[in-house]
Amino acid sequence: MRTVALPRIGTAAAWRTAARGLLAAQVPPEAVLWAWDSPAQIDLFGAEPAPVAPRGDVTVPKAFVALAENVCWHSDPERFARLYAFLWRLRRQPQLMVDRGDAQLATLRGMEKNVRRCAHKMTAFVRFRDLGEAGADGRRRFAAWFEPTHHTLEPTAPFFTRRFADMDWAIHTPDVTARFEGGQLSLHEGSPRPDLPEDGADELWGTYFRNIFNPARLKVKAMTSEMPRKYWKNLPEARHIPDLIANAEARAREMAEAAPTLPPVRAERILERLHAPGVLRGMTFDDLRKRAEAENRETQPGYGRIVLGEGPADARLMVVGEQPGDVEDREGRPFVGPAGQMFDTVAAEAGLERGAAYVTNAVKRFKFTLRGKRRIHQSPTSGDIEHARWWIAQELDLVQPKLILAMGGTAAETLTGSRKGILKRRGAVEETEYGPVFLTVHPSYLLRLPDAAAKAAETARFRDDLASVAKLVA
Ligand code: URA
Repeated sequence: MRTVALPRIGTAAAWRTAARGLLAAQVPPEAVLWAWDSPAQIDLFGAEPAPVAPRGDVTVPKAFVALAENVCWHSDPERFARLYAFLWRLRRQPQLMVDRGDAQLATLRGMEKNVRRCAHKMTAFVRFRDLGEAGADGRRRFAAWFEPTHHTLEPTAPFFTRRFADMDWAIHTPDVTARFEGGQLSLHEGSPRPDLPEDGADELWGTYFRNIFNPARLKVKAMTSEMPRKYWKNLPEARHIPDLIANAEARAREMAEAAPTLPPVRAERILERLHAPGVLRGMTFDDLRKRAEAENRETQPGYGRIVLGEGPADARLMVVGEQPGDVEDREGRPFVGPAGQMFDTVAAEAGLERGAAYVTNAVKRFKFTLRGKRRIHQSPTSGDIEHARWWIAQELDLVQPKLILAMGGTAAETLTGSRKGILKRRGAVEETEYGPVFLTVHPSYLLRLPDAAAKAAETARFRDDLASVAKLVA
């Protein structure tokens, strides 16, 4: 029996290295005991380092790597064993990765979903307290306490470095503390809840929350699903909830009588202050291009090459489509075929300047089946979307747009995590871990409408959506 000890910080990377080594040495799952930050267990069995896999010895499907990256942060103590057991089978049966009936995969997908949800909640519900003093370099200092259900501080820390790049901050959780000082992120052992000062931000959040709370649309179940009760104790605005619920009916009546009301301007300003965007840059565009070129040297049957986005690196707007089409794949540029021409025409009519936006796709390769010599477009699956997520995340990181325009279901799923119908959600902005996302239909939807009247009506709605986007980024 081997005991592999994984660290609390850098867990996912350590698991990946250990799993590759074990796989290369053909160590079966039942011969491995995984310990995570557990000295008692390690003392009992004695930790043995996992063998190191020679470079290139083990190939693992990218979709599994992405899955494992999330599952490693789950709180289930069996997570590492579950992943390795599945990986062991995957070695001989690569098609397992897309087998919807496989119970082990279903469990792992469920765990991945829990982790993603937890990470999303963390990005929404961490509340910083102002520590007052500015550091030597004049940066303001903030700290927050948070109790995530899973170990999601490490994977979400880059989000906070982008969002709050111009301040120094610490996020304390029971497991791990993340510190961002002078633009450098570091991770440390967790701590008990620190004594943080009450500050004005509490009041700001309370005001914001009371402003956006619409008593006429109160649905307690939906609200507690969005903001689960377990988070309330650390959310300054949550203390207003019982009152707001209790008085909702009376307030809804008052609102109806007093309409029209002023927009919650103050709330918008508060949001702006609390969500000041950052400018942290990881990879450069050059790195991305080189990586795409390297991957493009190998062809994949049924898939085209990686087509990256294009546009100003500091664009305020990022336009995200589905995947390159046949023309885009040949030219190596996004949105230059029929759907791109449709977009260009309607955008120009709506006053939206394509050249000022960074235009890209959620999935980077054209997916097709061959019919004779023709390459017929295939919609990307959720697996393709996950596979490609890394690329769009890098582009978002680099461009840091103020607003993202998601066109069509694939872009919406990638950015919001929800597959709910785009026709019901279009025309609205949804807050996501990547920033605000405006949803609309894909231009190829308009091209496919057989009825001329429906096409004209839908094109007009699309134009209205693009005009709203132009206004929002102006
Ligand atoms: N459809 C897309 O979603 N993107 C393109 O680049 C072309 C067509």
